[in-house]
Amino acid sequence: MSGAAAVRGAGAGARPGWGASWGPSLLLGLLLLLRAGRPAGSLGPAAGIAPPRFNVSLDEAAGRRWQPVLGHFDPGFLRTALATVIEETVPSWVHDVLRSVASEMDKFLPQPFEGEIRGMCDLLGLNVGDGILINLAYEFSAFCTSIIAQDVSGNIYHGRNLDYAFGNLLRKLTVDVQYIKNGQIAYTGTTFVGYVGLWTGQSPKKFTISGDERDKGFWWENAVAALLRKNCPVSWLIRNTLEEAENFEAAVIKLSKTPIVADVYYIVGGVSPKEGVVITRNRGGPADIWPLDPTNGEWFRVETNYDHWKPTPPWDDRRTPAIKALNSTGQENINFDTLFKVLSVVPVLNNLTVYTTVMSAAKPDKYTTQIRN
Ligand SMILES: *[C@@H]1O[C@H](CO)[C@@H](O)[C@H](O)[C@H]1NC(C)=O
Ligand SMILES: *[C@@H]1O[C@H](CO)[C@@H](O)[C@H](O)[C@H]1NC(C)=O
Ligand SMILES: *[C@@H]1O[C@H](CO)[C@@H](O)[C@H](O)[C@H]1NC(C)=O
Repeated sequence: MSGAAAVRGAGAGARPGWGASWGPSLLLGLLLLLRAGRPAGSLGPAAGIAPPRFNVSLDEAAGRRWQPVLGHFDPGFLRTALATVIEETVPSWVHDVLRSVASEMDKFLPQPFEGEIRGMCDLLGLNVGDGILINLAYEFSAFCTSIIAQDVSGNIYHGRNLDYAFGNLLRKLTVDVQYIKNGQIAYTGTTFVGYVGLWTGQSPKKFTISGDERDKGFWWENAVAALLRKNCPVSWLIRNTLEEAENFEAAVIKLSKTPIVADVYYIVGGVSPKEGVVITRNRGGPADIWPLDPTNGEWFRVETNYDHWKPTPPWDDRRTPAIKALNSTGQENINFDTLFKVLSVVPVLNNLTVYTTVMSAAKPDKYTTQIRN
C-alpha cells in the first residue's frame, strides 16, 4: 500500500457527484488496490495435501447453510484470520468507515451471497461489515495461472494455480465444497472458509471455470458505482454460472456478457472437443474470446494475468515456462497428472501459490485440489 495509491484513491472518492458514496468507493478502492507481492524464489514441485471437502446444502436457508462447515473450524482462528488480513491490508480509518456503511451496503448485495455472509458473521460473532469487506476483495486471484488443454482423444482438462499473499492463513482456510441441491451435487468449488464467491469450480458433466485477475491500472475507480448499478462481483458470477448455466455454451455466454464490477479473465472448459476458451473481460462485456483451436495444433491455452495478445512483463513471466512445459509434455501425454506437473514448474508454482486444482467436467469425480508449499 503506497501513499500515492492512497492519494489517488482519495482523489477518485472525492470526485464531484459521488456524494454520500464517497466513503465506500474510497475504501473499496484502497482495498482492491492492494497488491500481493511478486512471485519469486523457487520451490521444488512438492505435491501438496488435499484440503477438507464439505457438503453445503443449497436447500438450507442461506443464513444457515454454512453452519456445518464452520463447525469444523476454530471460531477463534477464523476471527483472528479475518482480523489479520483486514488489519494488514486496510488502513484503520478506512475500516472504520466501512463498518459504519455496512448496514447500507447490504441493500445492494444480491442473494444468496448477502444472506450467506450475514449468516456466517452471526454464527461467528463477526462484524458484518468485516465479512462484506473481505468478500468484496478482488485480489484473491492476484498472480494466478489457468490452463485449458485438449488431449489427442478430445478430452478436456482444466487446471489452475491460485497465488496470493497470506498463504499461511489461506492454506488453513482452503476447502473444496460440494453444493448440494435435491440430494445431488449441483456443483463443486474451491474457496476459503467465509468467502462465498468462487474462483474455481465445476458443474458436473457440463463445464469447469477458473478466474484470474486482470489488472488495468486503476480499474477499481468505478467499482462501487458498478456495484450500485448491481453489477456482479466477478467471483459471484462464477458461482451463479455454475448454478444456472445448462452447458458449456450457455456458461461462456453468461460469463462473457453479464456486467461485472472489475476486469477479469474467465477460463472455461467443457465436455466435448474444442470446448475450451479464455474470455478476457471488461466490466461491461467481453474484450476478447480465445478458444482452443486443436485442428491447427493449438491444443492448449495458458492464461496468467496479462492479455494473451500482449507480451508478459519481464518481471512476471509465468506464461512462457508454462507453455514450454506443455510443449514438452505433448498433446499425447496430457492428463490430470501431467497437467498437475506443469502447474508445479517454477515459477508457475511459486511461494505465493496457495492451491492447485485440476479438473475435467466429463469426469467430475476426478476434481482434485492440493494445498501447495
Ligand atoms: C521462497 O521460499 C523458499 C523456501 O521457503 C525460500 O528459501 C525463498 O527465500 C523464498 N523466496 C522469496 C522470494 O521469498
Ligand atoms: C455429500 O452429498 C453427497 C450427495 O448427496 C453424498 O453422496 C455424500 O455422502 C455427502 N457427503 C457427506 C460427507 O455428507
Ligand atoms: C511451443 O510450441 C509451439 C509449436 O511447436 C511453438 O510455436 C512455440 O514457440 C513453443 N513455445 C515455447 C515457449 O516453447
